[in-house]
Amino acid sequence: MNVFVRRHSISRVMNANCASKNSWPQFLNSASRPMPTVPIYPASIIQPTHLVSSLEFLKMAKIIYRDSAGREHVSDVPSGHSVMRGALDAGLDGILAVCGGAAACGTCRVKVDEAWLDRLPAPEDLENSMLDDEDRAARIRLSCQLLVTPEFDGLVVEIPASQF
Ligand code: FES
Repeated sequence: MNVFVRRHSISRVMNANCASKNSWPQFLNSASRPMPTVPIYPASIIQPTHLVSSLEFLKMAKIIYRDSAGREHVSDVPSGHSVMRGALDAGLDGILAVCGGAAACGTCRVKVDEAWLDRLPAPEDLENSMLDDEDRAARIRLSCQLLVTPEFDGLVVEIPASQF
């Protein structure tokens, strides 16, 4: 019974909207519907270099974490991840990262190996605001602000026994 009512209603709508009984109602007529706007990118715009650069995140860098006892832990950290995250993912102790990487807690401090000090990007204002002169003299950086790139491969950082 419900099926009959529904079919009957549809045919009434069709009859009301169509010039002839065999054509579709006006609202289903493709000629009257606006064409969907789908951006079309010519193949010439998409270059192989774009594909390569979009795969940058798949590149890894070996980060060497030295703990307070002098043991070294080598971890493959994907590009775009922070040195802090690499340590946490590897299950290393000594980094708390209470603020989750917002440069607000200062509990992700690491000491950068002297050979790497000039090879890393300089701290930005946010990170600088969390460090004092003593920290800078001791090569301390916030590991959450060190975003890994392939150029970080071989970076050595020391993790303190405690962040406090
Ligand atoms: S995780 Fe909080 S400052 Fe780095």
